Amino acid sequence: MAQEVEEKGGLTSHRGTRGGHNPAGRTAGPVESAQGRVGIFQASVADAGVPLLRLRCADLLTTIVTAGYTRLVLTVASGRVRLTKRPILPNKPQKEIHTVKDRKLLMIPGPIEFTPEVLRAMGMPTTSHVAPNFIEVFGEALERLREVFLCPHGQPFVISGSGSLAMDIAAANLVEPEDKALVVNTGYFSDRMGAILERYGAIVTHVRAHSVGDVPALEDVEAALKQGGYKVMAFTHVDTSTAVIVDARALGVLGLEYGVLTILDGVCSVAGEEIQQEEWGIDLAFTASQKAIGVPPGLALVVAGPRAMDAFHERRSPVGSYYADWTNWLPVMEAYEARRPSYFGTPAVNLIWALNVSLGQILEEGMQARFQRHRRLNQAFKAAIAALGMDQVPVRAEVAANTLTAPYYPEGVDKALLGYVSEAGVIVAGGLHGEIRDRYFRVGHMGAVTESDILATVGAIERGLLRAGYKFDAGTGLAAAQDALSR
Ligand SMILES: Cc1ncc(COP(=O)(O)O)c(C=O)c1O
Repeated sequence: MAQEVEEKGGLTSHRGTRGGHNPAGRTAGPVESAQGRVGIFQASVADAGVPLLRLRCADLLTTIVTAGYTRLVLTVASGRVRLTKRPILPNKPQKEIHTVKDRKLLMIPGPIEFTPEVLRAMGMPTTSHVAPNFIEVFGEALERLREVFLCPHGQPFVISGSGSLAMDIAAANLVEPEDKALVVNTGYFSDRMGAILERYGAIVTHVRAHSVGDVPALEDVEAALKQGGYKVMAFTHVDTSTAVIVDARALGVLGLEYGVLTILDGVCSVAGEEIQQEEWGIDLAFTASQKAIGVPPGLALVVAGPRAMDAFHERRSPVGSYYADWTNWLPVMEAYEARRPSYFGTPAVNLIWALNVSLGQILEEGMQARFQRHRRLNQAFKAAIAALGMDQVPVRAEVAANTLTAPYYPEGVDKALLGYVSEAGVIVAGGLHGEIRDRYFRVGHMGAVTESDILATVGAIERGLLRAGYKFDAGTGLAAAQDALSR
C-alpha cells in the first residue's frame, strides 16, 4: 500500500496511488517559516496495518520554497519508508514561440490570420464594461456593423458566442412553434440551421441541391415558396463544408415576392463576399467574429432588418431561449449605441474592442474594394489549384465562393497531404461534408489575406504534393497564381 503526499505551493493534499483507503488521521505540514529557512516538513500517514508515521525532513523545505510546486512522494511498503521529491511536470510551461518565423500561416476557413492592430486590442488591459471609453467603442462598433452589412436601417446585435449562437438567435427570435420554415440546403451548415429551426418548433422543409457541390435550383426554391405558408426562408450564403455560394440577391428577391422573412447565414461570407443586406431584401444576416470580419473567435454578430424586428415584436409566444432572447439584448444594444451603459450579460470587452478596430479597418478599405480583393485573390488561388490538376467541390465556377476553396485530393494523394503542407509552414483544413469528407480539403482566403499569403499557401501545397509523391512540374501552381495576380 502506498500513499502520496503532495505539496502545492504550501497547500497540501493527499491521495492514495492505487485506489487504497483514504488515510485516517492524515496530516501533512505545516511548512513553517518559509522565509526563515528553519521550517520542518512533517507528514503523517496512518493506514490500515501501517502505524502512524512521522517524518522530519528539514532539507526538503528548500525545495518546497524554491521550486514552489514540488510533489513529495512518501512510499510506505513492506515496512520500508521512502521519501522522494519530484517536479510536477504537467505544470511546466510549454515551449514559448517568440519569433514570427516559428509561426505557421493559418489558412483555414476560420479562425483566420488577424491584423496586428486587432491582436493588440485583444491584449489591452481589460476595462470595465461600463467605462466611458468602452461605451464609446461598443457604440461605434454597432454603428459600423450597419455599414459593413450594408443595412442602414438594421438593428445590430453583438453577443458573446460563436456563429452557432448567431444561428440560434435568428431561429429563436423569428420563429414560433408550428411556423413553416424553408431551408435552401447546400450542406453541413444548412443542415444545422434546419435542426435549430426545428428545435424552436418550426416545421422545416429542405430544398436540396441535386449533388454535393451544387446549389438548389432557384425554380425549385420558387416552387416550394409557391406552395405558400412559409414564415422564414434560411440559406447559407457560403457553405463552409462545400465552398459553394448561393445567389443571395436572387433569394432575397424571392423572399420579398413571396412575403417570407429571409435569413442569411453569412458566417463564411460577411465582409468577404458581396452582401447588400438592405438592398437585396435580406431580413436577417449574421456572422461570427473569427471569419472575414477578422476578430478572434467569440462574438456572434447579427443584423436584423425592420421586417425581422417587426416579426419579433409581434410574437405571440415568448422566445424559447433565455440567453438568445432579444427582449434581453435589444435594450442593451440600444443603450450602448446611445452611449449609455447597460447590462444583461457582461460583454466580451476585449473582443468588442478588437471588433471595432477591425470594422474600422474594413470600412477604411471600403466594402467594394474589399469584395474585389477577395475576388482577385480567390481567382489567383483557384487558378493555381486548377493548374496543379486538382478538381474542386463546387461543380462550376458560378457557384464557387470567393472566401475559400475546396480542392479534391488528386489521384494517389490523401489527407496525409495536410500534414505535409503544415510542415511546409501553412495550416489548411480537412474535409467536413459527410459524403466526401476524406476526398477533399479546404483552404480559407478571407479577411486580412494578402497576395503573399496566397503564394505562400500555393508553395506549401506544392511542397506537400511533392512529398506525397504526386507527379507534376514544381512551380506550375505558383506560375498560375502569379499570372492571375499580375493581370
Ligand atoms: C456557414 C457557417 N455557419 C455557421 C457556422 C458555425 O459557426 P461556429 O463554428 O462559430 O459556431 C460556421 C462555422 O464555420 C459556418 O461556416
